[in-house]
Amino acid sequence: KNDTLKYWYGGHEIAAKLFHHILTVSEEGKGAREYLRKRGFTKEVIDRFQIGYAPNSWDFLTNFLEKRKFPIEEMVACGLLSIREFDQKPFDRFRDRIMFPIWNKSGDIIAFGGRVLNEGNPKYLNSPESTVFNKSETLYYYHKARQNIRKKNEVVLFEGYVDVISAWRAGIENGVATLGTALTETQTKLLRRTSDNIILCYDSDNAGQNATLKNAAMLEAAGMKVRIGKLPDGFDPDDYIQKNGPERFNQDIIGQSLTLMAFKFQYYRRGRNLQDEGQKLDYIQQILTEISKLTRAVERDHYLRQLADEFSISLEALKQEQIQIFKGRK
Ligand code: UTP
Ligand code: MN
Ligand code: MN
Ligand code: MN
Ligand code: MN
Repeated sequence: KNDTLKYWYGGHEIAAKLFHHILTVSEEGKGAREYLRKRGFTKEVIDRFQIGYAPNSWDFLTNFLEKRKFPIEEMVACGLLSIREFDQKPFDRFRDRIMFPIWNKSGDIIAFGGRVLNEGNPKYLNSPESTVFNKSETLYYYHKARQNIRKKNEVVLFEGYVDVISAWRAGIENGVATLGTALTETQTKLLRRTSDNIILCYDSDNAGQNATLKNAAMLEAAGMKVRIGKLPDGFDPDDYIQKNGPERFNQDIIGQSLTLMAFKFQYYRRGRNLQDEGQKLDYIQQILTEISKLTRAVERDHYLRQLADEFSISLEALKQEQIQIFKGRK
């Protein structure tokens, strides 16, 4: 059992070193270097995040691990290698991909995310789940960001590793990522234990925005103070930083992060035409429902006034309606 762990961590560690070496100095890594350069990855970032490149070969890592006497069954079990159906021969799982090591809380590499260069399917290939890599328990970069999160008492949560890395270039050293939009109880607990405040910074697409709403509710229920780093349509954090630069990301998205209610005011507007009488009333109803969930009277009053001002409705009427909704919920 202990040997298994030693081989699994050791295999990942040595594979990461190898991929990093291939990326940074080899002829085969040239295309990958060029790709990363175009995406704004500096030498410093490539080193810090131990980014690598798995060459376009079926047996490169396999041969390397065999030579180093890593038991092949273990290397298959931990997901570094795969097994060919017809003759049970091992082969490299990751080929011609940019390799992002994924660490556990203690800083051991437990998996890789592999991105194709340019187009290709699947865009991201992650290691399979195993006893050491449980995607739903992992927060990318937590092992390093933890100290900074504690210091600031604030964490910034992204969808993907590329977003964490780009944001790091923008000076955000308290960023971590779920690997995709799903947030679990385990991850929520870990975040809660480390900080009181969280800024959710997911993609602006539907998946990202829906997840923002859902995850924000979970984090709030766990007792965290939630704000939203809202990106313009069509952007994820990395896209935004590419286009507008790190400073603007810091100022406009993190600096101008929204309260959860302000986010909801925007969220429920999506796809609605507020010039249309019926849609406008639906929208108002939706916001009133959200206001009804607020426990503090001062807060309810604040948002009711905002709604009243925006739609030129009497505050009195909104208040009455909101109380009706509240009673209906009980
Ligand atoms: P996205 O689908 O938003 O990636 O997934 P992207 O921003 O388009 O990727 P780029 O910018 O073109 O490279 C967001 C994150 O979700 C995780 C990855 O961490 C990814 O960065 N993800 C996504 C997976 O782990 N597996 C997947 O199949 C897809
Ligand atoms: Mn997305
Ligand atoms: Mn994205
Ligand atoms: Mn994309
Ligand atoms: Mn992206």
